[in-house]
Amino acid sequence: MNRSVDYDAVAEIYDRRYDRRDYGPVLQLLLSFGQGSRHILEVGCGSGHWLQELAKQGYDVVGLDPSSSMLRTGKHKSRQPSFVQAWAEAIPCRQALFGRVFCINAFHDMVDQRRFLTEAHRILHPGGGIMIVGLDPHTGLDCWWIYDYFPQVIEIDKKRYPSTGQIRSLMAAYGFVSASTVEALHMPLQMSARLALETGRLAKTTTSQLMVLTDDEYDEGIRHLMRNIEINEAQHKALTIGADLHLYATTAWLP
Ligand SMILES: C[S@@+](CC[C@H](N)C(=O)[O-])C[C@H]1O[C@@H](n2cnc3c(N)ncnc32)[C@H](O)[C@@H]1O
Repeated sequence: MNRSVDYDAVAEIYDRRYDRRDYGPVLQLLLSFGQGSRHILEVGCGSGHWLQELAKQGYDVVGLDPSSSMLRTGKHKSRQPSFVQAWAEAIPCRQALFGRVFCINAFHDMVDQRRFLTEAHRILHPGGGIMIVGLDPHTGLDCWWIYDYFPQVIEIDKKRYPSTGQIRSLMAAYGFVSASTVEALHMPLQMSARLALETGRLAKTTTSQLMVLTDDEYDEGIRHLMRNIEINEAQHKALTIGADLHLYATTAWLP
């Protein structure tokens, strides 16, 4: 089954995630990664959230993404970053123009992650750096109400996301050196299941983990959750759902 995600369909609401959670530690990592270079490319930039933060600090930033709607959202917010509609696997840049390339919550969406690493190597200066930020569902450390109520998602995620160890090995195989991983953000969360459901926090469009499901798979998980809410409420209890997720940043360098 094709488990790809239609980001065009969620472009207008995508940025809500940045109102709901403090991503400050990820920004700090990104700013320290950017130090020493002016020209930075984000691949899979979506609506340009990170590019705008870098542009405020004086960086010369370019964002690349295949989704025209995500890019349109980014252009509405600010003229500062330049946006290019393209795929990570075919970066439309002839020379090594960039000192840094990064990818936040997008590597798992790429059809050919190896091809992207070849492209990143090609468009980086000697001494340039690459940073990939994302979940690692292989650690066994993460808990998520989504993994509980939609049991197919963890296996889908394990196929979409390489482990951080695999990312470091891939980086080494594609000519990068000194690959290392740090925790970029710890994301614990507890909320009332009913409130979350009624305020749209559990909508299919909120995260790619739900967007990859068929409507039937999604509806079945929501029915299961609803039954648990009702069982708890019959006993005068409120069901809470939670997450305890970790985002990792893996960085490597060209010699
Ligand atoms: C979850 S969003 C992340 C957006 C942004 N990096 C952020 O953190 O807000 C993933 C983005 O990756 C893009 N994407 C999916 N496949 C891609 C590919 N093969 N090459 C480049 N970008 C891709 C999607 O269009 C989407 O905008």
